[in-house]
Amino acid sequence: MKKRKANQRVFIIILLIIIFVVCITVLLFNLTTSKTLKMDKNDKDFNKDYTTFYEDITYVNSDNFIKNINSLIELGYSIQDINLIYDTFDEKEINLITNSKYDSDITNYIKLDYFKKENIGRYIAFKYDENKLDYSYFAKDFKKDLTYEDIVTYVNIGLDQEYYTNVNNVSNETDIKILVNKYHKLDEDYEPDDLVLIDTKYATEGQKLRKEAALAFENMAKAAKEDKINIYAGSAYRSYDYQDWLYNKYVLEDGFTNAETYSARAGYSEHQTGLAVDILNKNWTLIDEDDSEYTWLVNNSYKYGFILRYKRGYENITGYMFEDWHFRYLGKEVANDIHNFNLTYEEYIAKQA
Ligand code: DAL
Ligand code: ZN
Repeated sequence: MKKRKANQRVFIIILLIIIFVVCITVLLFNLTTSKTLKMDKNDKDFNKDYTTFYEDITYVNSDNFIKNINSLIELGYSIQDINLIYDTFDEKEINLITNSKYDSDITNYIKLDYFKKENIGRYIAFKYDENKLDYSYFAKDFKKDLTYEDIVTYVNIGLDQEYYTNVNNVSNETDIKILVNKYHKLDEDYEPDDLVLIDTKYATEGQKLRKEAALAFENMAKAAKEDKINIYAGSAYRSYDYQDWLYNKYVLEDGFTNAETYSARAGYSEHQTGLAVDILNKNWTLIDEDDSEYTWLVNNSYKYGFILRYKRGYENITGYMFEDWHFRYLGKEVANDIHNFNLTYEEYIAKQA
């Protein structure tokens, strides 16, 4: 009797051990087998040649998953790239990637904190566009081999598309950080509601800026005067209609192509924001880079919230020739950053996370 009981106990223990081993084996198998492989091997796009890829690709429940993975594998993306692509993008953007060329910089783009997911197709297209930037009057100023940082920055600015295309209307913007350029425009009736006259001690008659900018300009001119430098606001706020008249005058006098390099079309001028000012020297003529007024401004304007807006060597980025006299009010914080990092305002905005 006792012996039978003992045998039964041994049998139960062996049975439990077998059950335990089977469970562990099933568990381990589940853990080590890719969800992709397990769940989608009946998918019509399942390709057994790619089994080794599928095994290490994390399953994502999305339409055309296997089909997209196949396309990414065929383009040349690695398992690591594909996992990162699925971690980063949604279906719409993945379709943009599968319809583009293989771009080994994709992981580099993603690492930049100012990379914009929705621009992924444009980054790749821009990188491989043989004729990129040919539309620009400053095309020759672009270096031949753009880095991945350049690609992301330029596309974020909009430079992958011709000037005055893909234009964003910014007329709702009231902040002093408003960006107006060949891709960001203002309505005909846009006029800031806080324009004030600049003290004629530091300006020609009737020049207006937005209140904060006017005060900052007066403070800057006063500080310059203490350093024996005399500066005056020559042309500050300009209405849409006035800019229209001015631009057309330049086109008539100098031709369309030339005018485009130094005059904004109506609606595209920073002067309409009430935050830009053309500065005169002690002789009441536009500042020239040889003037002591220019040197003083380049070294000090940021302390008052102003930046030299159209710098030499950055014409391709701003879309305008170097303007020794055109300064833009952005407030001390932004002006300080732009000064320290030696950026244009376009780059500053394009590099924001
Ligand atoms: N000269 C500058 C670009 C303007 O017309 O606004
Ligand atoms: Zn100007």
